[in-house]
Amino acid sequence: MIEVHTGDITQLSVDAIVNAANRSLLGGGGVDGAIHRAAGSRLLEACRKLKGCETGEAKITPGFDLAARFVIHTVGPVWHGGEAGEAELLASCYRRSFELALDKAVRSIAFPGISTGVYGFPKDQAADIAVGIMREYEDRFERIIACCFSEEDARRYRERLQLK
Ligand code: AR6
Repeated sequence: MIEVHTGDITQLSVDAIVNAANRSLLGGGGVDGAIHRAAGSRLLEACRKLKGCETGEAKITPGFDLAARFVIHTVGPVWHGGEAGEAELLASCYRRSFELALDKAVRSIAFPGISTGVYGFPKDQAADIAVGIMREYEDRFERIIACCFSEEDARRYRERLQLK
C-alpha cells in the first residue's frame, strides 16, 4: 500500500527511511541534516566507511538512534534544466533504494521528496516519477510512505495516488 504522510521523516516507525543525501554521504542540510541529528553520531561514522555515493545510486546503514532499523542514503540529481538526465537519475534513486530495501527484507519504507529541496527538481515532475516507481514496487512491500514536509507536497502525492 502506498500512503502519504505529512511530517518529519525521522519520526516514522518503519523498517527503513530514505535520506536525500549528497555524494559525500557526510551530512548536510534539509532532510539529511535532520536524519543525522536524529540518528546520532554513529550514523556519520558508518557513512564515512561508505566512501561516498554516485548520483542515482544508494547505500544502506543502520538507523542507530532512529526508530527505523535502516537508513538508505541516495543521491538525487541537481536540477540543471532537465536535459542532463535528471529524470532518469531521480527514477534510479527510487529504484536503487527499493532494491536495497528488498535485499534487507524491509517491509515498510518511507521516502522524502528526493531532489525537491536544495537540488531544485520541479516538484510536480518529481512526484510523477516517485509515484511511478512506487507503483512498480507496491506489491513487494507492506507499506510505502511518501513522507511530505508540507501539506502542499502531500496534496501533490494524494492527487497522483487518487487518495482523498
Ligand atoms: N522530513 C521529511 N522531509 C523533509 C525533512 C524532514 N525532516 N526536511 C526536509 N524535507 P532537501 P535535496 C523535505 O533539500 O533537494 C542536503 O544538504 C524538503 O521539504 O533535504 O535532495 C544534502 O546533504 C524537500 O521536499 O534534499 C544534499 O546536499 C525534500 O525533503 C542536498 O541537501 C528534499 O529536500 C540534497 O538536496
